[in-house]
Amino acid sequence: MKLVIAYIRPEKLNDVKEKLYAAKIYNMSVTNVLGSGRQKGFTETYRGVLKEVNLLKKVRLEIGVNEDFVQPCLKAIQEGAYTGKEGDGVIFVLEIAEALRIRTEETGPQAMG
Ligand SMILES: Nc1ncnc2c1ncn2[C@@H]1O[C@H](COP(=O)(O)OP(=O)(O)OP(=O)(O)O)[C@@H](O)[C@H]1O
Ligand SMILES: [Mg+2]
Repeated sequence: MKLVIAYIRPEKLNDVKEKLYAAKIYNMSVTNVLGSGRQKGFTETYRGVLKEVNLLKKVRLEIGVNEDFVQPCLKAIQEGAYTGKEGDGVIFVLEIAEALRIRTEETGPQAMG
């Protein structure tokens, strides 16, 4: 079991969601976040002085998946979130030690999707 965490452009959320649904991945959490990557957000010139390091609006996706769905999940996010310009985002994959569905008490891969 893996937890896929992705930071994407807010305006690409719908495209990513459609790709995920096409891959039969429906269970996800989505939050609005502020973030910066290698370009440190963006810089501004104020009265001739370059200053202000800003945080940009991004969307964070968290998706718990069984092993068979890891690659389809990564592909869906990569394709849906891609523009080719700086700021397209990043995807992290973490190991999930255990999962438990509260209502049914299912555990492990059964609890995943
Ligand atoms: N190492 C990181 N840790 C946590 N969040 C990150 C990290 N890298 C990127 N992010 C998140 O992803 C968002 C988009 O990052 P971004 O696409 O600018 O990454 P980048 O590494 O600068 O790549 P690029 O050069 O394509 O812009 C950031 O605003 C931030 O929310
Ligand atoms: Mg960047």
